Amino acid sequence: MNADIQSIQDEATNAFEKAQSIKELYDYKVKYLGKNGSFSAIMRNMGKLSKEDKPKFGKMVNEAKNKLDEIYAKKEESLKEKALEERLSSEWLDLSLPGPKRFKGSGHPLTMVTREIVDILSRLGFSVRLGPLIEKDRYNFEALNIPADHPSRDMQDTFYVDDTHVLRTHTSPVQIHVLESEKPPIRVLAPGAVFRCDSDTTHSPNFHQIEGLLIDHKVSMGDLKGTIGYFMRELFGKKTKIRFRPSFFPFTEPSAEFDCSCTKCQGKGCNLCGHTGWMEMGGCGIVHPKVFEQTGVEYPKWQGFAFGFGIERMAMIKYGITDIRLFVDNDIRFLEQF
Ligand code: PHE
Repeated sequence: MNADIQSIQDEATNAFEKAQSIKELYDYKVKYLGKNGSFSAIMRNMGKLSKEDKPKFGKMVNEAKNKLDEIYAKKEESLKEKALEERLSSEWLDLSLPGPKRFKGSGHPLTMVTREIVDILSRLGFSVRLGPLIEKDRYNFEALNIPADHPSRDMQDTFYVDDTHVLRTHTSPVQIHVLESEKPPIRVLAPGAVFRCDSDTTHSPNFHQIEGLLIDHKVSMGDLKGTIGYFMRELFGKKTKIRFRPSFFPFTEPSAEFDCSCTKCQGKGCNLCGHTGWMEMGGCGIVHPKVFEQTGVEYPKWQGFAFGFGIERMAMIKYGITDIRLFVDNDIRFLEQF
């Protein structure tokens, strides 16, 4: 009988030691120490023993079981640790790794200069109006005092849609829409696309302009110069100088073109400004009485000034861009820089 205890104990010890999982270990515990296990089986034979042997046998069985409980507990502990380690290493997460990169878009340079210009002039009370891209001849030309066969139509190589419609060659037709539909005083800005048959590094068949129109009582060339000067200095810096040159537009009289001191050389002369120290910005003037006549606005009770300039040109100067075609190439390497 003693030999039986010893061999069960050895067998159980072996089994416990070699168990690979908590589940396996538990199964062995049931097999050897459980209610229907090996020890319970030999205990059932205890009845056959003599009176003196019974307690001795019982004590030996208890000792063996206690010993096995200890081994079991130790093994269970080490298997739990192993399981935890395995879990930790399989669920390992490196929080210091950078996350997946998200592509962050940015504004198109033309959108950004447009917004900046609108923002600056809105401080003087100007607000935005938009007009159609396809215009009746009347809006693009006639009402702006550019009659058919007038030589000034050659200034703007026009895309004709049909006999009476054109792709607008400038934003000035928005002046007419506004004068027809709104009551003075008026302060509006009209940014948008315009079209001309023209294409090289500084001319694109589709480009953008901003038109400004102010209508009020007693408007002078001084008001116009002050407004343009303010906005150019806000856009290009306080030191920017402005110059007005007499010019001609059928819808303004007097008319002028305005230049600003070169943003690169500050007027000393460089390759950007063609060694003149000045950069051409746009056209402007006092609204022609013919325009008021065409739109039914009472003159000289109401007077006004207008100006217009190219947005691409502004953006090229502001950001040092040398080819106008880059704006529409959609090259991400170009666009990402803004
Ligand atoms: N529309 C003119 C152009 O495209 C610019 C301009 C606008 C001139 C308003 C005078 C007044 O060249």
